[in-house]
Amino acid sequence: MFRAQIVDNIISAEEIAAFKQFRNEHQSEAWIDGYVPNHPEFEPGQVIDHRILIKPEYEVHKIIDRVTRQFLPNVRHIWANYQRQTNPHSLHVDDYCKDYAEFPTYTIIMALDDIPEHSAVLYQEEARSCEHMHEMFMTWAMGGRDANPRKNTWSETEDIEHTMETFTKTYFGDWLTPDAVFRYQAGRGIFFKASQIHCSGNWKKYKKFNNKDLVQIHAH
Ligand SMILES: [Fe+2]
Repeated sequence: MFRAQIVDNIISAEEIAAFKQFRNEHQSEAWIDGYVPNHPEFEPGQVIDHRILIKPEYEVHKIIDRVTRQFLPNVRHIWANYQRQTNPHSLHVDDYCKDYAEFPTYTIIMALDDIPEHSAVLYQEEARSCEHMHEMFMTWAMGGRDANPRKNTWSETEDIEHTMETFTKTYFGDWLTPDAVFRYQAGRGIFFKASQIHCSGNWKKYKKFNNKDLVQIHAH
């Protein structure tokens, strides 16, 4: 089965500075990507993240291109954004994979700061879309949880409180196969399948960060 790859120093300090400068100069182009769901870990209605499209004509797209080709030498399509999270993402797949079901689609995330409390938690299981992942979740909640053994204890060691199934206080992720935990270190990147089930670590609980910044690429 496919496993995520984590690579340190995939971009330099100068390139990190260039991405941050890009954000400063293009803030007016940011759009809101989504709002938090109803869950005890969240205040409903808050923004999850803002994104700024990194268009091919922007200078920093050269960095995007190089990093992507390091993993996918024959890449045909690249889409990238600068993302500022204001709340962690719950379990999902990157729905970008849904529009390109005929090709395996990949995601690359690059960390811009040394903040180990900022993380991404990845499982090996894949879904065709967030809707499909929700069906898998329901199958688990309606009997799979009781009929199958728990596969890991990440709910005890990783910051995934915000993914708890609130009725039984159990975790869908604990019945999935662990792949990787990506901890943010400036210049570090992770390459995974967009269809892999994953979430952000619950960085918000540390109450010392306003945002989590990253560069995200979808490619196939
Ligand atoms: Fe994602």
